Amino acid sequence: MNDLILAQKSAFESDLSKVTSITELEALKVAYLGKKGTITGLLKNMGSLSNEEKKDYGRDVNELKNLAQDAIAEKLTALKEQEMMAEINAVPTFDMDIPANTQGGSYHPITLVQRKCEEIFRSMGFNIEDYSEIVTDYECFESLNIPKFHPARDMQDTYYLDNGQLLKTQTSAAQNAIYKKYKDALINEGKPIKAIFPGRCFRNEATDACHENTFFQMEGVMVDKDISIANLIYSMKTMLAEVFDNYDLKVRLRPGFFPFVEPGFELDISCQICGGVGCPSCKHSGWLELCPCGMIHPNVLSEGGIDPEKYTGFAFGLGLTRLAMMKYGVKDIRDLNGGSLNSLAQFSDDE
Ligand code: DAH
Repeated sequence: MNDLILAQKSAFESDLSKVTSITELEALKVAYLGKKGTITGLLKNMGSLSNEEKKDYGRDVNELKNLAQDAIAEKLTALKEQEMMAEINAVPTFDMDIPANTQGGSYHPITLVQRKCEEIFRSMGFNIEDYSEIVTDYECFESLNIPKFHPARDMQDTYYLDNGQLLKTQTSAAQNAIYKKYKDALINEGKPIKAIFPGRCFRNEATDACHENTFFQMEGVMVDKDISIANLIYSMKTMLAEVFDNYDLKVRLRPGFFPFVEPGFELDISCQICGGVGCPSCKHSGWLELCPCGMIHPNVLSEGGIDPEKYTGFAFGLGLTRLAMMKYGVKDIRDLNGGSLNSLAQFSDDE
């Protein structure tokens, strides 16, 4: 091997042995094998050599080039491994002696109360229905006897979507679809429509102890021949006595206006937090508005494909959030959505 080549070889080997990082290795590669690198430069000397010399010289330079490439590749693998081991060793070790968190999960009070109500209504022969949270204006308002520009729309501050749909402000939005789903069985087979549909509702409301912009309701409807207010009162009373496990719970009915029922009522129960004396949760009245209800308006039945001359029905819109507050003595609605696991864990034994 030519002296020049030998000198380059030992310089390369000495420099390579000093490399300690991938960045340094890359710089070395450029310095020897790059376009202006010294090994590459050796080939430029070929012009001054005889043909015979050129053959050996060329072969030797190529040999050195291959040797350098292989050595660099080998070094790269070793350095990568070294860096990976350094990273692994930098991970802190686990302390196996720290006591484990043994507190199990728990159901949210609204889930508990919803399940309880579902169980009660199922035992009375009601179907449980699920419904979308995004609905049309027709479902939420028009099919419920609330035409465009009707003043009753002001009762519910609605979140509209860009596409004209909206976040349902009330579970009543499912009524029309339920009537259409079951009307044939009612008309042809004489099967009463009995359904409940729990769901999340949204209104653009300012938050206080009794209001949140997101809350849970459970709508219920019953349609058949000769359904009367007596059926409504019986169903509500049975349900509330079971939920509160209190057959002496006080309820009162007041007239209430809702465009989709006639007559309409407000069903109140005595405040379970203060026992009826008056507190901020019941706005110091001793009563909590729990469940608006009424006899389904003839227009709403017709819109659902049911002849109001032949059939009648009742509907109610139970406030599940409010019901959970009363059942569990939660004073502020915001506590339910606060996400504190400790406060939610109190309800875990109830299931
Ligand atoms: N959807 C009404 C609301 O959220 C509540 C309601 C009132 C539902 C009367 C009913 C009903 O089914 O009959 O304000």
